Amino acid sequence: MNKDVVNIGLIGFGTIGSGVVETFNKNLDLLENKVNKRVNLKKVVDLDVKTDRGVYISPEVLSTDINDILEDPEIDIVIELIGGYQPALKFILRVMENGKHVVTANKALLAKHWNEIISCAGKNNVRICFEASVGGGIPLLRPLNESLASNNFESIYGIINGTANYILTKMSDEGKSFEAVLKDAQERGYAESDPTFDIEGDDTAQKLIILTIIGFGKYMKQENFHVEGISSITQEDIRFARDELDCCIKLLAITKLVDANLEVRVHPTLVPMNHLLSSVNGVFNGVYLVGDIVGPIMMYGPGAGMLPTASAVVGDCIDIIENMDPVHYGPTKTPVKKVSDIADLKSKYYLRLLTEDKPGVLHEISGILSKHNISIGSMTQEKAEKGTPIS
Ligand code: HSE
Repeated sequence: MNKDVVNIGLIGFGTIGSGVVETFNKNLDLLENKVNKRVNLKKVVDLDVKTDRGVYISPEVLSTDINDILEDPEIDIVIELIGGYQPALKFILRVMENGKHVVTANKALLAKHWNEIISCAGKNNVRICFEASVGGGIPLLRPLNESLASNNFESIYGIINGTANYILTKMSDEGKSFEAVLKDAQERGYAESDPTFDIEGDDTAQKLIILTIIGFGKYMKQENFHVEGISSITQEDIRFARDELDCCIKLLAITKLVDANLEVRVHPTLVPMNHLLSSVNGVFNGVYLVGDIVGPIMMYGPGAGMLPTASAVVGDCIDIIENMDPVHYGPTKTPVKKVSDIADLKSKYYLRLLTEDKPGVLHEISGILSKHNISIGSMTQEKAEKGTPIS
């Protein structure tokens, strides 16, 4: 950036916004030395400027008027951290039309309005960076798009929702039910009071949309691929996976190229205990990918939280200051013939059935599977508890 002072505007003074302010307070010297310029957090706009966020901010920096950022010609980079679709979309498009670069953590917005946002950035010759939108503090998207640019990717497997991973880890470690662990997670503030988005896979799906664009150059809407959460996972599933199959259960985001067809899906998956992803526990995130040049890579770290996410946001600002040229995503590196329907996938499946204890039940089940050309790899039958059916 050809200026001695770079001015930054921050929209949204919530948890991550406070983390950004704290990062500037704590490490401004480091950042300014890196870019050899003054970096000035000029304005922070939020509807609520009264609540104490526990970080120092000078009163003249705070404002409730969004135009103090959108229409200030001195602001070079705008950080959007209000989340959601509107007014975030309106603000982002407006600041790009005004020639400002954008940094955002808004995966929902990017997943839904990717084409409109990227084309607006291109038209206005500005950058939009969104490292914090997937994997929180883990450097993920830029390494994928730049450091690993020489690769065609065969597959990406991600544990990219900390809440779901925390619940599955606790269920496994403590033998508690899904409901009990969720309640505990809510009490500790790890899960939202309405946790649907995290536990039913929507958050993971939005992040997978972004990963799939960067890794495979293919943009997909969430309604066009299979998304299944973890709310139906029981203690029996966890125990079976561990004791009988030497696996753990993880909510995986998967994109995989098979015979030039792209498989994109989110669902609970059996992960062998000797796979690196099985060691991604608690609120941590991990992404395992295989490139045709580099081979397997695993990226691991805190997938959420005030300071880890702020680290990615401020890193994006520094990247923009150092390089203002628009970054290109796609087109598809390896041509994709089509995106496979979940019904067409060939994969191993785990079925747990609760049946009546009467002669011929297993015969009937294997008959149904055989009719659909499904082979049984292995089968375990548990003794029924007194008074309950056999599972
Ligand atoms: N709700 C997300 C999670 C964090 O639980 O991982 C923000 O992306």
